[in-house]
Amino acid sequence: MRVAIVGATGAVGKELIKVLEEREFPLDELRLYASARSAGTTMTFRNQELTVELTPEGPIPADIVSASAGGGVSKKWARTWAGEGAVVVDNSSAWRYDPEVPLIIPEINPRAAKNHKGIIANPNCTTAILAVALWPLHRAFGAKNVVVSTYQATSGAGAEGMQELLDETRSFLDGKPVGHKVFQHPIPFNVIPHIDSFQDNDYTREEMKVVWETRKIFGESGMKISCTAVRIPTLRAHSEAATVIFERPVSPAAAREVLASAPGVEVVDEPARARYPMPLTATGKWNVEVGRIRQNLAFDNALDFFVSGDQLLKGAALNTVQIAELLV
Ligand code: A2P
Repeated sequence: MRVAIVGATGAVGKELIKVLEEREFPLDELRLYASARSAGTTMTFRNQELTVELTPEGPIPADIVSASAGGGVSKKWARTWAGEGAVVVDNSSAWRYDPEVPLIIPEINPRAAKNHKGIIANPNCTTAILAVALWPLHRAFGAKNVVVSTYQATSGAGAEGMQELLDETRSFLDGKPVGHKVFQHPIPFNVIPHIDSFQDNDYTREEMKVVWETRKIFGESGMKISCTAVRIPTLRAHSEAATVIFERPVSPAAAREVLASAPGVEVVDEPARARYPMPLTATGKWNVEVGRIRQNLAFDNALDFFVSGDQLLKGAALNTVQIAELLV
């Protein structure tokens, strides 16, 4: 089993190397690829120094290629890599909406991965974190309408986004002008309701990814979902506040029971002890934290809940490795 990571030096790539090691993924060879900027540098895997190679303009000798170098690279090269016999697990949005490409969260639709034709897509991080908690509730009570607002970390914009938060916060504290490159506006001490580009319907593409991808992963093309996606000045782990109207009778206690045995979920819901999902506690965890589960006061038969999940793990690297585990 030969595994290659394209974008190994990025925020997701670095996590991938760690997750492969921690889950003792059965691989014989790991090859790391990035751009010319970091080709020749070394990274550690299983106590071995591996040299980062320049991503080739052509085939990659691997059985599984994890592509985490952005949509442009994936769009251009995934088919070539797949044509040489590799299965490409793609982290970008380049292939997610292609009907021939399965979009997989192993806790939800593992069987769909079997139908791949060389490319399997990894969902958007915000979608993945919500879906892991929403799926068991949907199965039990039938989710009819879903309204979600997100609190997304700078890690969603990669290593550069995290660095911008640190650098610009330092500028602010030093009394220097606060700039921005990765984000549309200065990120320190701000919230920005703009992630990805605006669409004709006035939603952003990030918001529509949650709609399109949840429907595809659940196999529910008509599910009614609305999202407001917001960037906040945290380093990593996305949070989301969800309101869900159900078809069948539901209660917070019944929901808690369902979630308690759901894979990929950790119920953190003890308000009296100030225990609820938060980015600081969700960071580094494989499971998505779910809490603040309560009866919604505005709609009948509806629940509110709050989730926090590590954007770089369940939202990216961990889900990729879980997909690779399905393949072996
Ligand atoms: P490099 O470190 O050489 O720039 P992030 O999402 O954290 O920004 O990381 C992006 C990853 O994708 C990095 O590993 C980066 O490598 C890599 N990358 C960016 N552009 C290319 C490209 N054109 N070809 C191959 N790898 C790329």
